[in-house]
Amino acid sequence: MGERVAVVSGAARGIGAAIAKRLASDGLRVGVLDLDADACADTVAAITEAGGQAIALGADVSNEESVAAAIHHLDSTLGAPTVVVNNAGVLRDNLLFKMSVDDWDTVMNVHLRGAFLLTRATQKYMVEQKWGRVVMMSSTSAVGNRGQVNYSAAKAGLQGFTKTLALELGKYGVTANAIAPGFIVTDMTAATAARVGVSFEDFQKAAAAEIPVRRVGTPADIAHTASYLVSDGAGFVSGQVIYVAGGPKD
Ligand SMILES: NC(=O)c1ccc[n+]([C@@H]2O[C@H](COP(=O)([O-])OP(=O)(O)OC[C@H]3O[C@@H](n4cnc5c(N)ncnc54)[C@H](O)[C@@H]3O)[C@@H](O)[C@H]2O)c1
Repeated sequence: MGERVAVVSGAARGIGAAIAKRLASDGLRVGVLDLDADACADTVAAITEAGGQAIALGADVSNEESVAAAIHHLDSTLGAPTVVVNNAGVLRDNLLFKMSVDDWDTVMNVHLRGAFLLTRATQKYMVEQKWGRVVMMSSTSAVGNRGQVNYSAAKAGLQGFTKTLALELGKYGVTANAIAPGFIVTDMTAATAARVGVSFEDFQKAAAAEIPVRRVGTPADIAHTASYLVSDGAGFVSGQVIYVAGGPKD
């Protein structure tokens, strides 16, 4: 695994940062991709200080040229990426009757168009090497969540994308799987607590009470699952959606 190169989108913070650090400690070199390269500095520093290799990639996953430039840069510095984790995400929650076209488009563009562009840009390296791992970040919201018609549609869409990719690329030694996290403590859930006017602590307590294992999730919970899915040993696991939510959700 030492020679392998991964790219993780939305890796400046939260779940993406935890995945980038975990994959680096597993021995992969990591392209830490987020909107602003400077924002990736902490993740890159944590990896290099721990003895790993990483570079910051500033790119908007919904922009074709921006993605192409980032992947070209990664290929010419750390090497050809054969692991892609499509984790970049945004929320624009609202009930349908109040949802703007902009809020719909933004969520579709970051999650679906972003995963399409980044996966398309990296698949050729995987096909060439006859080995690859694609991980999509879905969500328990894919099965429906009030106030999230845009987000739940995008997250369900990513599950269909994953299954189709598994069918198309399996013969090249490439697996594609999705992780569907439940409540994970990050800036994203903190922002939701702030939006609904509840302290983040109370918000977490209320969420934990509804979760079978009686706790909320951490970015490390998701990083552990991503580490498994990209490992050599998981080569016969493909087209799956793993709900990492402290209980059954689908
Ligand atoms: N936190 C949760 O409870 C939870 C649950 C289920 C799924 N998820 C999903 O996990 C992923 C990570 O979530 P998080 O909680 O760490 O969120 P976060 O908001 O803390 O981090 C998301 C990162 O994505 C980056 N990003 C946003 N738009 C981008 C773009 N166009 N191009 C490149 N980077 C972009 C942001 O800058 C940010 O660094 C998201 O896809 C989210 O939908 C989160």
